[in-house]
Amino acid sequence: MKPYAQLSPEERRGEYARLRTEFDALKARGLSLNMARGKPSKVQVDLINDMFQLMQDPQDYISDGIDVRNYGELAGLPAAKALFADILGCRPEQVFVGGNSSLQLMYDTVSKGYTHGLAHSPRPWCREETVRWLCPSPGYDRHFRITESFGFELITIPMTEDGPDMDAVEEAVKDPAVKGIWCVPKYSNPDGVIYSDETIRRFANLKPAAPDFTIMWDNAYCIHEFEGDYVEFPDILSLCEAAGNPDMVFEFASTSKVTLPGSGVACFACSKTNMEHMEKQLTVQVISFDKVNQQRHVLYLRDKAHSLEIMKRHASVMGPKFRCVADALDREIAPLDIASWKRPRGGYFVSVNAMAGTAKRTLALCREAGVTMTDAGATFPYGKDPRDSNIRVAPSLPPVEELEQAMEIFCVCLRMAALEQLGL
Ligand SMILES: Cc1ncc(COP(=O)(O)O)c(C=O)c1O
Repeated sequence: MKPYAQLSPEERRGEYARLRTEFDALKARGLSLNMARGKPSKVQVDLINDMFQLMQDPQDYISDGIDVRNYGELAGLPAAKALFADILGCRPEQVFVGGNSSLQLMYDTVSKGYTHGLAHSPRPWCREETVRWLCPSPGYDRHFRITESFGFELITIPMTEDGPDMDAVEEAVKDPAVKGIWCVPKYSNPDGVIYSDETIRRFANLKPAAPDFTIMWDNAYCIHEFEGDYVEFPDILSLCEAAGNPDMVFEFASTSKVTLPGSGVACFACSKTNMEHMEKQLTVQVISFDKVNQQRHVLYLRDKAHSLEIMKRHASVMGPKFRCVADALDREIAPLDIASWKRPRGGYFVSVNAMAGTAKRTLALCREAGVTMTDAGATFPYGKDPRDSNIRVAPSLPPVEELEQAMEIFCVCLRMAALEQLGL
């Protein structure tokens, strides 16, 4: 098949009629397939079941002399701090281990900036006339919604293959109303990009006009390779410290996609000044987080090396699914020149850039044929993709057989929407 743009109007009409018949046949299968959210599959959560065989002995509830069943240790069990410090490459005293969700810790950090101010805030953000926030896009919709919910003005920063466009970031932070940025430095959601060393160096060396400018460094996929070897990443906390910006960054992570989403353990890591500031506020809010779950994770994951072993089990389930998606796109779409994508090696998503103006239509067709995907636009601030192009594919939940059917439908819909856009 030739690239669609090279087809004559008559060839386009012929191709569309053929696809329409195929679409109707696929629709008649009455499927209901979901590729909307980055959720692990049942096979993956079953893999973790032996975690619940632990802690059968009362002695297992004592960690470094601390009874994990009682109040105390607001910032988390020392052993849990050590585990996350090992994974993230920072120091245990820089880690605050919280509850089951890193997103909640991120929300809480922004919320504290809004109501009380962060360590270097001249005043709480609610007293600022305007607060602006940088949103590298395509990005994670739930990040954007947090800062949108506080009424901040969201500024789109283009994503490149090396991470956010740093020229745009350096320019934007000259504005004192710009108070922060969302980052997913490894296997970014949805592009699967790993920020380059140069990008990370430029982040650590930013000279923002706002004294309380905050990098929200969401390292959600720090050990989440499903293809190839584990990729090391630099410790952003020491880089910021070395650049004279120790308090500019909060790093986040969780075990949501290592053990169980919704029943894992989350943390943030930050400088001493930020830790003292946060602890002072958090102590008003909570006596202690779930240390029984923290201990269960310490006993199960043990350290970074053993966590990486567990991630290999996930990779054996995830790898074939991502190959299924990329293979289908390579086979069905690449020759037509109507979309672009990359083969990620980790994370939870494949980011497809469809022909401009066709993402919404593609997903409407998918829905009609029984395939649900993340809404078009969701990967941009305010849910509006200016090019109506980016589509986030989340292949982790369905089994491969279902995924193959879903991809068959997706590819037909991408083709139909492209032909409609080119004109029939
Ligand atoms: C980039 C990113 N951060 C955070 C989360 C949610 O993490 P948690 O379960 O720890 O709240 C997700 C989930 O998809 C994510 O993609």
